[in-house]
Amino acid sequence: MANESVRKFYPWFTMLGIVVGCLVVGGYYKDQFREWKDFQRKFIREEVRRAITPQQRARAESTPVQVHQIILPELNRVDRCTTCHLAVDDPTYGGYPQPLAYHPLHEQHPSEKFGCTICHRGQGRATTAAAAHGNVPHWDEPMLPLMYIQASCGKCHQAADNPAAPELARGQQIFEDSGCRGCHKLGGTGGIIGPDLDKVGARRSSEWLKKHFLSPAAVSPGSGMPPQKFSEPELEAITLFMLSQTGEMVPGYYASMKVIASPDEGQRLFQQKGCIGCHSLGGKGGTVGPALDDVGLRRAPDWIVAHFKDPQVVTPGTVMPKFGFTEAEARSLTDFLMHLREQKVALSLPSLMGPVERGREVFRKYGCAGCHGPNAQGGVPNPNAKTAQQIPSLKYVADSYTKDEILKRILNGQHEITSLDASKPAPPLYMPGWRGTIKDAELDDLVAYLFSLKPKGEDLGF
Ligand code: HEC
Ligand code: HEC
Ligand code: HEC
Ligand code: HEC
Ligand code: HEC
Ligand code: HEC
Repeated sequence: MANESVRKFYPWFTMLGIVVGCLVVGGYYKDQFREWKDFQRKFIREEVRRAITPQQRARAESTPVQVHQIILPELNRVDRCTTCHLAVDDPTYGGYPQPLAYHPLHEQHPSEKFGCTICHRGQGRATTAAAAHGNVPHWDEPMLPLMYIQASCGKCHQAADNPAAPELARGQQIFEDSGCRGCHKLGGTGGIIGPDLDKVGARRSSEWLKKHFLSPAAVSPGSGMPPQKFSEPELEAITLFMLSQTGEMVPGYYASMKVIASPDEGQRLFQQKGCIGCHSLGGKGGTVGPALDDVGLRRAPDWIVAHFKDPQVVTPGTVMPKFGFTEAEARSLTDFLMHLREQKVALSLPSLMGPVERGREVFRKYGCAGCHGPNAQGGVPNPNAKTAQQIPSLKYVADSYTKDEILKRILNGQHEITSLDASKPAPPLYMPGWRGTIKDAELDDLVAYLFSLKPKGEDLGF
């Protein structure tokens, strides 16, 4: 009997439970909802204020207040940022206070195709500013500070010569010039003393990176990485370049604009395609086709682009091959040719260089400078190494070795480095062997460069 009367109340208990639950959950979420709802109401008020015709006004007034989302299966993202950033696609909102402002250059990457987090990072699904901007615990991809936003461009565009991302290009340049590859692999090329940097941007923050560059051993005790002597702008640029290395791959359409037309890309193509076999620059090269130094004065850019697309159509009977260039590649080559005079680029084309200059490029390419110093003058610290606790200079190798001996040293490396004090930890850096890494054709040039280092006139004392 008693049991039965209690059972009669069960539905009521359940109802009560649900009501209380709803109140608690509702109260909890009310603040969260209020934030974006307030922005949407503000936006609607602004739209109503701007309305001219009664129809426009009615349409604005009936705008629903709701979560907006951009679903991007190919990028594996759902971005709700436009729940608050409501006017990113409307230039008439230029200069409005955030989050109601127009997005600079929106037409280049329309938000319905790109969303937001592919460039900004942050938490796409969140609907509070704090969570979306990613400044919350348990979310490991905070929004990139705007000053590093160019780090994202490299996901889809070639980093080196995106004219719209100069900081990224600068960071890459510094990376190649500073000898980082002597110790680190990036994109498969480089040494093995330090970790692979392909995904470093996904695991390290800008703060960590900057501290580490200035004093690696303070961040990673016992690190063999030498402290880097960067100026403030260089430090920011190399940090940005590191942040760009996330290992994220984008498919299809998103990767379709790998190359953004630029003179640098044109120079690379000019080199790769062997144009110099038929054409000359600065008096060097082939004579099958005309010298190209002044082609920018003779021809209009449109003519040159059309000629690249199909030389036969423009100059019937020509022997110049049709290379099958994309639009961006044809534009890049044309930019390169139009600006030859200003850039003096001709001199830096490897095919026009002598062995010593090419060897200097090899030294640069494999990051030998990371250990031996920018001009092979030595001085990089190697604590407890017998050689003055430093990596040796290479300026006098021509005195100590024959070309064959030096080649062997480079190919085999020297893994056992003699300690100054046997009771202390062994020196962290050693000479890696480069067999199988440096190409045969590059080795002769490299040795020619090293042999050229000996200061002239120093033989006189002999
Ligand atoms: C709940 C509303 C809201 C959501 C959702 C939201 N934002 Fe914001 N956002 C704001 C507000 C408000 C500001 C301006 C104040 C500030 O900087 O926090 C802002 C500012 C920004 C800025 C400029 C920061 C700066 O340093 O000047 C960026 C970039 C940004 N948001 C990107 C995003 C991205 C990307 C998302 C989605 C992952 C997002 N926002 C989602 C409200 C929001
Ligand atoms: C293709 C990359 C890219 C995408 C996609 C992108 N942004 Fe941006 N965003 C940028 C860059 C670059 C800047 C800095 C522009 C500048 O200051 O020149 C920026 C700046 C901003 C700013 C600050 C604007 C200012 O004037 O200070 C906000 C806010 C912002 N983005 C929000 C968003 C939101 C919201 C989305 C998605 C609807 C989005 N962004 C999508 C690259 C992107
Ligand atoms: C998710 C991939 C992706 C990211 C990230 C990205 N872009 Fe793009 N970008 C594209 C695609 C795809 C196009 C071509 C869009 C179209 O025309 O449909 C493009 C177009 C451009 C163009 C116009 C190129 C031309 O010649 O018409 C420029 C400039 C550009 N992007 C610069 C940038 C910069 C700067 C960044 C970083 C802030 C960036 N992009 C980030 C994919 C991306
Ligand atoms: C002489 C060898 C050497 C050179 C040159 C060198 N590094 Fe390192 N680097 C290391 C070693 C060893 C480590 C691992 C110990 C540590 O974290 O410091 C390391 C660690 C790093 C890390 C941290 C990686 C991670 O996720 O733990 C980054 C980033 C890095 N180096 C970037 C660079 C850059 C950029 C340059 C060029 C400016 C450079 N390194 C030059 C040896 C070197
Ligand atoms: C097999 C030899 C050959 C190769 C390789 C070749 N060209 Fe040509 N090129 C010619 C000849 C011959 C002409 C003159 C006839 C004509 O206009 O097609 C010419 C004409 C040109 C012109 C027009 C010059 C003028 O003043 O009218 C340009 C620009 C040009 N080539 C650029 C290039 C570039 C850049 C490459 C490499 C991507 C290249 N060529 C590769 C043979 C070649
Ligand atoms: C990770 C640091 C590191 C990198 C990168 C490195 N070296 Fe070395 N190298 C050393 C050390 C340490 C020695 C001294 C070995 C010894 O004490 O016997 C050395 C010695 C040499 C020697 C012999 C010098 C002598 O007087 O005996 C040559 C030649 C040389 N390196 C060339 C190169 C070239 C070329 C590259 C780039 C392809 C390169 N090294 C990259 C660390 C490095």
